[in-house]
Amino acid sequence: MCGIIGYIGRRNAVPILISSLKRLEYRGYDSAGIAFFMNGRIEMRRCAGKIKDLESSIKGQRLRGPLGIGHTRWATHGRPTEENAHPHRAGGVVVVHNGIIENYLELKESLIKRGHRFRSETDTEVACHLISSCLQKGLNLEEATREALRHIRGAYALAIISESEPDKIIAVKKDSPLVIGLGRDEFFVASDIPAFLNHTRDVVIPDNGEIAVVTGQGVRFTDMDGRPLKKKTLRITWSPRMAEKGGYRHFMLKEIFEQPRAIADTIRGRVFPEKGEVNLKEFSLDSRMLRGFKKIFLVACGTSWHAALVGKYMIEGMARVPCEVDIASEFRYRRPIIPEDCLVIVITQSGETADTLAAQREARRQGAMVLSICNVVGSTSSREADAVFYTHSGPEIGVASTKAFTSQLVALYILSIALARARGVLDAAEAVELFNELLSLPEKVEKALGLNDYIKKIARRFYKVRDFLYLGRGINYPIALEGALKLKEISYIHAEGYPAGEMKHGPIALIDDNVPVLTIVPNDELYEKMLSNIEEVRSRGGRVIAVTTGDNKRISDVASWTIFLPESNYYLMPVIFSIPMHLLAYHIAVLRKCNVDQPRNLAKSVTVE
Ligand code: F6R
Repeated sequence: MCGIIGYIGRRNAVPILISSLKRLEYRGYDSAGIAFFMNGRIEMRRCAGKIKDLESSIKGQRLRGPLGIGHTRWATHGRPTEENAHPHRAGGVVVVHNGIIENYLELKESLIKRGHRFRSETDTEVACHLISSCLQKGLNLEEATREALRHIRGAYALAIISESEPDKIIAVKKDSPLVIGLGRDEFFVASDIPAFLNHTRDVVIPDNGEIAVVTGQGVRFTDMDGRPLKKKTLRITWSPRMAEKGGYRHFMLKEIFEQPRAIADTIRGRVFPEKGEVNLKEFSLDSRMLRGFKKIFLVACGTSWHAALVGKYMIEGMARVPCEVDIASEFRYRRPIIPEDCLVIVITQSGETADTLAAQREARRQGAMVLSICNVVGSTSSREADAVFYTHSGPEIGVASTKAFTSQLVALYILSIALARARGVLDAAEAVELFNELLSLPEKVEKALGLNDYIKKIARRFYKVRDFLYLGRGINYPIALEGALKLKEISYIHAEGYPAGEMKHGPIALIDDNVPVLTIVPNDELYEKMLSNIEEVRSRGGRVIAVTTGDNKRISDVASWTIFLPESNYYLMPVIFSIPMHLLAYHIAVLRKCNVDQPRNLAKSVTVE
């Protein structure tokens, strides 16, 4: 996830670009850059690091221009270095990009054969070269952009400027956010409204496949065939202050609501759904390798460890490879036996967790191949691993992990299918069905998020309790653990996750009116057993919140509160069940006036043992 900005108007573009980038910094903050017209030529300034580093690097320079573009980066392709920082340039064409160009490798190869020289490791640079080569054929910038886009597959919001036409910015959108701001004699292009909210509240939101030609006189919209479009102007009612977290009160809430997008980005480019195949090249894997593994270890900490527990059900269930799950801080001290022909999968949002890195190093020392499921490009885990599956959740700023967790589950689902296909235990038709379900997941998660108000009501009933119990079974038992962890870390309520069948072996002694019990009840073969567990709680005076799917109407008779979620297949239900866990913990913490984004004693990335 990155942030893009463009400005054209009567004022000096440079300070406007810098201050807008600061407002977009929540979208990415590993490198940044600007490009602007000065004396008829495009000047660029870029650097690794945050916007304030870019700002200090240009301090004292007399930079002025009426038009420019800028970018703040969350690296996906290529490390966060100055060379990989946007804007990118080819000839007189300069581009900033948010999104992923899926077919950049093949485009790059063919451009190199035609004599183009690349300066960065990014996917974005192919867009500059393509547009520049179309300009050389005699097309104008708008036509050249349109022609270049015919060759590009993937998601993008692009802002493009060219020395051949120094009076305009071209902006295009497909599956990445883009908004156009209409000021008085000045116009803006941005990934998000907060970028220019202190200059104008009048915005136009382009749809997929639309092109905006922005000049000092106004904005013209066309479709991909050049047909003119009439667009509606919206008046935004937000205040600039609210918008600092994208309009959300906390980063955590914003990140909870970003999950449909994070999941879609984690899937994009990774699967060939119609063929029932996984794009193994993306992860430097091949089928022969995947066939060879006799055993898999899944190693992680905290929330990522909960993802690993779900991963065991996915891998063993779909690919029939035995799995062991380890808490990373325990792994090397138990002197693990890591046989030859085994794969160690480490799961880490930050890629910097000390215990996970130590476990990863132990696995490699014993000769195992390590695959890292990681969210931060260029992190230590990703650099030291033999193969990497990047989750494209975007920067996670709230300390409590939410969108990174569900993206990890999606990554494990895709890997399980890859393993199962390579080992011949899943045929193409079965894989197509599993992919179809995966592709509908963002929409189902969106629906689950629609229950926010109802979950807030439940939170109001329970935010004063001292203890909470979460029960689940099978693949959803780790979601009970995750629900309990979310609650305890941000609200400081003592919470425990338990396998529902274990209740009668001890914890049932805790049940009374003061200990609410949240039960996760999927529509599977354990449904009746979960109902009996709920009855056991009820008959001891416990209050039950049941989280279930649309078809399980019998549940409302036995539970005090029932949350009905959209249904998915057995392996993807944990993703959907995670949503109410996040929302309930969030609302309870807010009601208790806790610091949701920075809970006491915790840090986002635990780099000490
Ligand atoms: C809980 C949480 C932590 C992390 C854990 C591992 O909400 O965020 O439990 O999951 O510290 O961090 P990563 O995934 O960065 O290795």
